[in-house]
Order: sequence, then C-alpha cells, then structure tokens
Amino acid sequence: MLLPEGVVIDTITGTVSPSTSSYVKRVSELRGIYRDAAALDDFVSCNGDVVAYEVIDYRKPESDLAFGTTIMSPGKIGDEYFMTRGHFHVRRDCVELYYTQVGHGTLLLESRDGEVRTVDMKPGVCAFIPPDWAHRSVNTGAGKLIFVWVCAADAGHEYGGILERGMRRFVVERDGRAELVPHPKYPA
Ligand code: F6R
Ligand code: ZN
Repeated sequence: MLLPEGVVIDTITGTVSPSTSSYVKRVSELRGIYRDAAALDDFVSCNGDVVAYEVIDYRKPESDLAFGTTIMSPGKIGDEYFMTRGHFHVRRDCVELYYTQVGHGTLLLESRDGEVRTVDMKPGVCAFIPPDWAHRSVNTGAGKLIFVWVCAADAGHEYGGILERGMRRFVVERDGRAELVPHPKYPA
C-alpha cells in the first residue's frame, strides 16, 4: 500500500529527500544538441567534463504521478547556454509542470506542428507544459537554475526527433542577454 510521505526539496540546493533515483548529464554526453561541436571540445579541454545538469526523481510503483528536481549548472558552449536535451513525452495526453525555485532561464517549447513558445523561468513561476509540446530548459543565468517538475509517472520520454533535427530556435547570448535565434532549417 502506498503511504503518505513528506518529501523535502531543499530550497537552495534542490536535493530531494528521500529520492528514488537520480542521474547526471555531463557536457560530453550532450554533444549532439549544440550547434558548435568544436566549442564543446574547447569547453571540455578548458573546464573538464563538468556536470551540466542533474535530475533527481521521486517515483513510487503504483503512483500515477512522479516528481523531482532538475539542477542545472550555468555555462555556455560557444554562445549557446547550457540546456537540457529536450523531449516530447511518449504519452501525448500528459501535462507537465515546471516550478522554478532558483535562478533564471528560458523554457523553450515546440508543438508537433512547429509552433514555438517560451516561458521565462524565474523563482515563483510555474510553467504549464501542455500535452504534446516538446520542452527544453535553458539556463540563461549566472548561477544554478533549479526547478521542480511534476508529470505522469508513465509519460515516457521521446528524445529522437529533437536530437536528430534540433529545436526550431537556439537560445544564445548576444551582448550579455539571452536571445532567440531561428534554426537555419526552420526560418522564423
Ligand atoms: C520530465 C522532465 C524533466 C527533464 C529534465 C531533463 O518529463 O521534463 O525531468 O527530463 O529536466 O531534461 P531532458 O530529459 O530533456 O534531458
Ligand atoms: Zn518532460
């Protein structure tokens, strides 16, 4: 039987206690998502293969909801900010929520038919991710970006399409500010 439990999400570090699993993504594992592969190699040779982000889960067998945190380091590969891989959910009927706890970022969203939207990520903003919109978090701030996510436990992740063709916008730094740039394959 599932029992009630108070799960502590540290307001500063984003750690989840107790948690059920976690993983990290290092810069070298994210090679395919950045447009400038040489900049990625330069980054790794100068800074080492640092952790770009960590995902911590709380999910229980038999529960239809899962939640957890994503803890993103600040950084850039060339002019592109550190970002998550980005995905659709396998289940096309599932909403997800992202509640930003620490830092600043851009949530980049794309529908199946190519509509692009963004939501500012800053403390207190709860982003509503509608069913069947791809989502990628981009850390545009100088410090960590930490958010709490909640979704259906069996939503599943579909990474292939985004990895192969990219999202329709890049989020890059221009004159010290975050700017959206169209992917050359998909002019705005
Ligand atoms: C779950 C979800 C987040 C992301 C995490 C890493 O549906 O959206 O937990 O999985 O922020 O992003 P990806 O999975 O795109 O590397
Ligand atoms: Zn998701």
